[in-house]
Amino acid sequence: MSFQSEIVTWYLKNKRELPWRDTTDPYIIWLSEIILQQTRVEQGKPYFLKFLAHYPNVRDFANAAEEQVLKLWQGLGYYSRGRNMLFTARYVVEHYGGVFPTSYDELVKLKGVGNYTAAAISSFSSNERKAVVDGNVYRVLSRYFGVEEPINSNAGQKMFADLATELIANQEPSVYNQAMMEFGALQCKPKSPRCDECPIQIGCYAFKHKKVGLLPIKLKK
Ligand code: ADE
Repeated sequence: MSFQSEIVTWYLKNKRELPWRDTTDPYIIWLSEIILQQTRVEQGKPYFLKFLAHYPNVRDFANAAEEQVLKLWQGLGYYSRGRNMLFTARYVVEHYGGVFPTSYDELVKLKGVGNYTAAAISSFSSNERKAVVDGNVYRVLSRYFGVEEPINSNAGQKMFADLATELIANQEPSVYNQAMMEFGALQCKPKSPRCDECPIQIGCYAFKHKKVGLLPIKLKK
């Protein structure tokens, strides 16, 4: 089996049930991805549910008062995320008639939405073929394929982005992207990765060369 098929097969068997995975609604996916930007899944989950209960759609969010949004945000940190969300919700109502965009090129223009988040929302909501590249993906790719270029150098970023784009070519984008993130989060973990029960151990460069603990490489800046 190819690297990608192994990852997807592993995912279908091992994925967590997460409340934002049952939907293709770009508003709901946006909500989850912004909350999860600097927040662990277990910490973010109750906030996601709370926001969705208060603001079931982007119009409800847009109509909220800033102080209410920031109050709901309390405890998550990085309050600019909450402020940017309100700005973006109002922008979507004003410029898209309340219909949340699903294309990468539109999404990446929204405040608070970068390459990663635009790739996540577009692939999960409309299956657009855009590879997500986050910390999980850097780790899995650098270890398995032996990419030793630093993840925070220009050359490294291009290398990882190109490799990720190549790998998603024949895959179901939404499933493959989720699978890569989940594999990085649960299996190919930063500390104590589960190499002994890894379905792709045999092809893994880092495992073979005893470099699992050394990859990915990140430059101190
Ligand atoms: N972290 C960021 N986005 C995520 C997602 N969609 N599923 C699980 N963890 C995530």
